[in-house]
Amino acid sequence: MSAVLVLNGPNLGRLGSREPDVYGSQDLPALKLLLDSEAPAGTTIDLRQTDDEAELIGWLHEAVDAGTPVILNPAAFTHYSYALRDAAALVTKAGIPLVEVHISNPHARENFRHNSVISGVASGVIAGFGFDSYVLALIAIGRRS
Ligand code: DQA
Repeated sequence: MSAVLVLNGPNLGRLGSREPDVYGSQDLPALKLLLDSEAPAGTTIDLRQTDDEAELIGWLHEAVDAGTPVILNPAAFTHYSYALRDAAALVTKAGIPLVEVHISNPHARENFRHNSVISGVASGVIAGFGFDSYVLALIAIGRRS
């Protein structure tokens, strides 16, 4: 794999100050540094964040067209965005790995977080390990590429 897209949905740009009891005190630049240090030589980490559903869908279309594996934290879109699910399905149906990740364990939280409309079309799901959820996803993608 030469590149991995690491896509983050709404409010994840606030990591570091957002509910540190749930999400920890590290921010997205720290996540980028961590993934850069864990990526195999020659693999580029392309980490992005948006609060905009349309932009996130556009990035998944880009992954399909370029054949780029995806680590996706859909944030709150996880629980209700059928449009994002359909875009994620385009990725995996093209044979490109897409791993759904969560920093927290949504199943240990409020009821509305227990359902993911993304999981059914993801290659796999990793949740509850803080930023290590992304590292574990990177390992899983590396073993499949
Ligand atoms: C989250 C869990 C979601 O329920 C929540 O809406 C988020 C973050 C996580 O990484 O734990 O924004 O995806």
